[in-house]
Amino acid sequence: MMARFPELKGRRILITGASSGIGAGMAKVLAREGCRLVLHYNRNANGIENTLQQVTQLGAQAQVLRCDFSRLENLPDFFEQAGSCFDGLDGLVNNAGIVTKSTSLKDPLGDKFAATLAVNLQAPYLLSAAFAKACIEAKQGGVIVNNTSIHGQATCEWFSAYAASKAGLDAITKVQAVEWGQYGIRVNGLAPGVVPVERTLAILSQPQIEAQWCERMPLGRYGKTEEMGEATAYLLSDAAAWMTGSILTIDGGLIARGNYPQR
Ligand SMILES: NC(=O)c1ccc[n+]([C@@H]2O[C@H](COP(=O)([O-])OP(=O)(O)OC[C@H]3O[C@@H](n4cnc5c(N)ncnc54)[C@H](OP(=O)(O)O)[C@@H]3O)[C@@H](O)[C@H]2O)c1
Repeated sequence: MMARFPELKGRRILITGASSGIGAGMAKVLAREGCRLVLHYNRNANGIENTLQQVTQLGAQAQVLRCDFSRLENLPDFFEQAGSCFDGLDGLVNNAGIVTKSTSLKDPLGDKFAATLAVNLQAPYLLSAAFAKACIEAKQGGVIVNNTSIHGQATCEWFSAYAASKAGLDAITKVQAVEWGQYGIRVNGLAPGVVPVERTLAILSQPQIEAQWCERMPLGRYGKTEEMGEATAYLLSDAAAWMTGSILTIDGGLIARGNYPQR
């Protein structure tokens, strides 16, 4: 793999949720770009060890930090540790998230709803604020990439908490971009479509399920975690220097197509 964005070499990037799935794919691509990485995980110690091994093989400097984002009081210490790994940060990738399938009728006290919003919405909100504050104090610019989802734009049954968290993250992306543009801090979102990860592979690889999904996608296949990494590298790079407050949908055309019957 060749580096596409030479200016990313040496940049200090915190990726949350790098122990599996899309976060691990992002870490590999950013390692190829020569970034110095702070890799976050919560429970999956083997997963983060694998990611660390892979990025190290690609020649990246990387450090690992653990934090449970469902306990928001953990975030200030976590962010301070992340900043001290390489004496500051140039970029923040808010990728960690939970996919909650529930309905309001099955969650009468709203516990699942609150837990989903804490990890998917409040944690990125607070981490981004801590990142922006550090950039402003250091008199340097910075870049934030929020991993949202197509569920922020179009959703379906069972996903009220998840979709609310991702639509909220889309909104925060825009507001924070507006607030921090004056400091040279860019904030964009990445809205992936269906990307098989360890968590979903067993279901999504069933031929009937795969056919049902892929016939709705103009590009006719699922996304790959590294493709989300490529888009993240672009958003972090100077090629996107005039881009802020945008949500980059990357879904093989799923959302663009709409739910019309086949013609
Ligand atoms: N895969 C898709 O099709 C798809 C599509 C659209 C958007 N997304 C978004 O992509 C992001 C990554 O998801 P994924 O699909 O790659 O799933 P994944 O493999 O399950 O990754 C989720 C990551 O989030 C971390 N995490 C979960 N709960 C956490 C908590 N309480 N505190 C801190 N970290 C926590 C996990 O850490 P541990 O495992 O170490 O605990 C893991 O590293 C999510 O924001 C998701 O909404 C995914």
